Amino acid sequence: MPVLANIGCLATCAAAGGQGDVHLVRRAAVAWEGERLAWVGREEELPERWRRAERWDAGGGLVLPGLVDCHTHLVFGGWRTDEWVERLRGRSAFDIARSGGGIAATVARTRALDEEALFGRAAGFLEEMARLGVTTVEAKSGYGLEPEAELKLLRVHRRLSRETPLRVVSTFLGAHALPAEYAERAGDYVAMLVAELLPRVAAEGLADACDAWVEKGAFTTEQARRVLLAGRALGLGVRLHADQFTACGGARLAAELGALSADHLEAVPQEGIEALAGSGTVAVSLPTSALWMGLAPTPARALIAAGVPVAVATDFNPGTAPSYHLPLALTLACVLQRMTPAEAVKGATIHAARALGLEEAVGSLEPGKAADLALFDAASVEEWLYHFRPNACRLTVAGGHAVWRAGETKR
Ligand code: NIG
Ligand code: FE
Repeated sequence: MPVLANIGCLATCAAAGGQGDVHLVRRAAVAWEGERLAWVGREEELPERWRRAERWDAGGGLVLPGLVDCHTHLVFGGWRTDEWVERLRGRSAFDIARSGGGIAATVARTRALDEEALFGRAAGFLEEMARLGVTTVEAKSGYGLEPEAELKLLRVHRRLSRETPLRVVSTFLGAHALPAEYAERAGDYVAMLVAELLPRVAAEGLADACDAWVEKGAFTTEQARRVLLAGRALGLGVRLHADQFTACGGARLAAELGALSADHLEAVPQEGIEALAGSGTVAVSLPTSALWMGLAPTPARALIAAGVPVAVATDFNPGTAPSYHLPLALTLACVLQRMTPAEAVKGATIHAARALGLEEAVGSLEPGKAADLALFDAASVEEWLYHFRPNACRLTVAGGHAVWRAGETKR
């Protein structure tokens, strides 16, 4: 039962207060027992029993809850470097998708890999994410788009959660794109998802939530509603890829369904913001993806002003955000979305936990919650995100165990 002491600045990131209230504690210490936090506060107030415990020295650094990346497409085959270069030359993403590239290209590369190969790749990504201070990662299927391939991806999620030190939350995104086998038959595909695939996913306990992409060229609000209602009836949380390229009713649908989150929202209209206000749904912003696709950023200021909690995540995927660097996404949230560093930090801790329905378990440093935390070489939240460094994380603790210590490897 170690104590991490000599912390210069700790942000508990407890839910109370506004987006920017991260609840700072100066000269802090944190103690844990097994997998759970036991005490958090000013070091001079550390109870006697903890003073005799094993002491880890934070060197005056910044301690945050283990970061929560609440939106990734973690498990996929191959990359799309070729398409990126084509887009740089001026070809549009829609044009690339029309000729069989885009999501379809990744689907082919993902179907071609077996469970073991997909697991190995994703476990490698998770190891790198842990080095950045991330301890919880949401992962979406959606690159299988046929029953066996989707189940394969979801089984990889479950294995990642069991066999790596990080917490992996599994989301079923069968309604990501229409597979070629169902061209012009979106209704049949949706019917298959509802009647065949979702019941199997639920029966095997392979997903925590259900997601759908509402967009021109993907699925309509009607089709997404059918899938999400079926998922909800089977006990899954509801999430939505909403208003990414065009305003097509995604935010409104998320609010109507009482979704855990509405994600992207680069093109959300004012009426979508109004629908989200008071719905309890978290707006998940994905600034790396907006930057990569040249989209206007998610209007975080308008969402915050309307009282909507805003999370920040990477959207890690081979097409629109080939980066799992969550601290980089947080700096981009500041620069592009005009969020303060404190607001961004709350977006990758308690608000992100809430987007996953895990706000009672992770996302803040409070006794009883998971002993997930990260130590950064910075004097403050502001200094951490200002410097834009490759990696300022010195120590990551997940479930009470150190899973990364800077200096221990050759990197
Ligand atoms: O979140 N918007 C849809 N899906 C992904 C992109 C997937 C891909 O291009 O492979 C996203 O941006
Ligand atoms: Fe996404």
